[in-house]
Amino acid sequence: MSTIRGPRVTIYPDAHAAARDVARRMANALQDNPAVVFGLATGRTPVALYAELARLTTTRHLDWSGATTFNLDEFVGVGPDDPGSYRRFMQEHLFRHTNLEPGRINFLVGTADPDEECRRYERAIAQAGGLDMQILGIGTNGHIGFNEPAPGLESRTHRVKLTIETRRSNADLFGGKLDRVPTEALSMGMATILQARSLILLAHGKSKAQCIAELINGPVTTALPATFLQLHPHVDLILDTAAASALRA
Ligand code: PGA
Repeated sequence: MSTIRGPRVTIYPDAHAAARDVARRMANALQDNPAVVFGLATGRTPVALYAELARLTTTRHLDWSGATTFNLDEFVGVGPDDPGSYRRFMQEHLFRHTNLEPGRINFLVGTADPDEECRRYERAIAQAGGLDMQILGIGTNGHIGFNEPAPGLESRTHRVKLTIETRRSNADLFGGKLDRVPTEALSMGMATILQARSLILLAHGKSKAQCIAELINGPVTTALPATFLQLHPHVDLILDTAAASALRA
């Protein structure tokens, strides 16, 4: 048995080349449609992507003024100006290098009433006409956004308890102190993500290889949320050789 049309896989010799490819795809999408709606991700993986996108913004004179962005997730209890917030991460790595309109930058607010905030975000995505291109990373446990492995997955934007593994990998944002990393987050749900018209997952390094192999060849399972990407018709996986190293030849 095999999938008729699984994710398209592109493999580069190194992580920077992979990030450059995704930056080019985003720049092209913006030039093709100045009103594009991007879904964005944080983490170590997209740092090189946003650096390249900032460079292309200058060299290609990219005009972001009509574009809209929605980020995947934010920590509960962490305000937008907090140095550990994903909002600050995005400001630093991408937003300040562009002419994005502040009113078109959409973010989950970690200090808002969680349930109302999740509903507000879903309404905002719908009002923007949905996500054209969602950028994703993948956790070493197979999470996307903060959709952690669980017996069941939430479909819509929701409040989530973070696994210890995920909190550890975010400790750098909080001065390396695990006890300062929030225990909960707000995250787009699986259906929110899968409703994006196209998805690009960027991954590098050996620690992601097993999850990437399962994403492509394994059964769809809530134990590895990224396997749900098999159900979407327009997914690109952009990998370096280390992240692709567990794939069957
Ligand atoms: P990373 O995180 O890019 O820091 O590895 C990816 C993720 O958890 O989605």
